[in-house]
Amino acid sequence: MPVNILFVCLGNICRSPTAHGVFQRLVDEKGLSESISVDSAGTGAWHVGKAPDGRATAAARQRGYDLTPLRARQVRQQDFVEFDYIIAMDDSNLSDLMALYRAGGSKGAEPVLFLDRYLPVASESSVPDPYYGGDEGFEHVLNLVEAASLRLLNTLIANHPELHSA
Ligand code: 4NP
Repeated sequence: MPVNILFVCLGNICRSPTAHGVFQRLVDEKGLSESISVDSAGTGAWHVGKAPDGRATAAARQRGYDLTPLRARQVRQQDFVEFDYIIAMDDSNLSDLMALYRAGGSKGAEPVLFLDRYLPVASESSVPDPYYGGDEGFEHVLNLVEAASLRLLNTLIANHPELHSA
């Protein structure tokens, strides 16, 4: 049984696919791709079925991540029981997720805020939405996501003994 990780933002075309691609590569590099499964989703449905935003794809490609195979989907109730970790990019994603989680009887994985939980040294607790800004916003997303992803992976390895033998 792999440990299942779901990254969530609003549209699932900028921040959560970035986290998906970055974290997947860390997992692959550690040889844990059979033991940790990674996915991403959006709280909104506007972009369902679409590839990530071209600006997110281009910024990620500069750092060696390929986001092109990813396609947007919307979060569903079932995700709380299918995933072990549900990781929100910003406060608003977290409150939307909490509402869905409570509506389903608070079963399964309670959503957490990515930076707040895994990068408390950061000066911000939300990964800011880069959609309406310039290219620097996408670089900032990558910087935060890379740093928090390293801590997340180390935390998973520390908390899941079954990952040690992999
Ligand atoms: P994301 O960015 O939540 O990081 O994927 C956004 C993408 C699309 C929109 C907002 C944020 N939008 O309003 O369509």
